[in-house]
Amino acid sequence: MTTTLPARRKIILDTDPGQDDAIAILVALVSPELEVLGITTVAGNVPLPLTLSNTRKLCELADQPTTPVFEGCARPMVRELVTAEHVHGKTGLDGPDLPEPTMAVQPEHAVDFIIDTLLGAEDGEITLCPVGPLTNVAMAMVKEPTIVPKIREIVLMGGAYWEGGNITPTAEFNIYVDPHAAHVVFTSGVPIVAHSLDVTHRALMTKEWIAAVRNLGTPVGVASAEMLTFYERFDEEKYGTNGGPLHDPNVIAYLLDPSIYDGKDCFVEVETGSEKTMGQTSVDWWGVTKNAPNCRWIREVDTDRFYALLLERLGRY
Ligand code: RIB
Ligand code: CA
Repeated sequence: MTTTLPARRKIILDTDPGQDDAIAILVALVSPELEVLGITTVAGNVPLPLTLSNTRKLCELADQPTTPVFEGCARPMVRELVTAEHVHGKTGLDGPDLPEPTMAVQPEHAVDFIIDTLLGAEDGEITLCPVGPLTNVAMAMVKEPTIVPKIREIVLMGGAYWEGGNITPTAEFNIYVDPHAAHVVFTSGVPIVAHSLDVTHRALMTKEWIAAVRNLGTPVGVASAEMLTFYERFDEEKYGTNGGPLHDPNVIAYLLDPSIYDGKDCFVEVETGSEKTMGQTSVDWWGVTKNAPNCRWIREVDTDRFYALLLERLGRY
């Protein structure tokens, strides 16, 4: 009897590494359930040249130098770029000393790669997984609106409601950097699953977990531990917690095992008018607007299962 393996889920990972992005990339690339069609890079945590270089460094660390990597948008659609070196360090990947990358950058622009890949696929075949500002995804929708019905789902890291903001009192960084792009995405009609600070702040890394990652003893394990030791200091000091949130890998863990999470279908809209609350994600959790939901807003996570999954996957290198 032949056993048929479930079809691999085709994804495009859009990223601005960033140490938390790095873990998302490493876990995605080693998980057989996922077919990473390409990794598109965007300006966010650090400027685009660095997010592009960091992505290539991580693909080489994963020993997957043929991963298609694409250069994306260097700035938000309307606003000036805001970066987060204060969190991620000057390089955006402070911690380990990874060698300068030599792998290829694909010649196609990231926005065109997203468009061409979706137009060449069946409807509902491809999932977009943005874990940085939504500039590339929104620009693809604006440039070629016919891609919208082709997208199976957008599973993103971004937003904040119950938790409050991390870059302003009301806004989470990814949405704040490009609120207009977020508005395009959240009004597109594409099914969205949002992993906001409401869920990522409920699953904090511990020093014991980082030690377990380091004890994998592999280049991936040691480099990951060095990244996360650097990265966690900011949130620990800011929130006075033992450990910090590991935002972006929640997107990949959700794809691998959605039962780790729970949430609610809500109507979500993005503030683009008020400077004071720019980038705020207004989540109609109680349905008071009577507007149809446009997003599954994730709020619950089984922290132990989340970190056990990440460790198991990092251990596959
Ligand atoms: O607010 C957290 C998000 O902003 C994460 O994606 C992190 O990598 C930064 O991009
Ligand atoms: Ca990110």
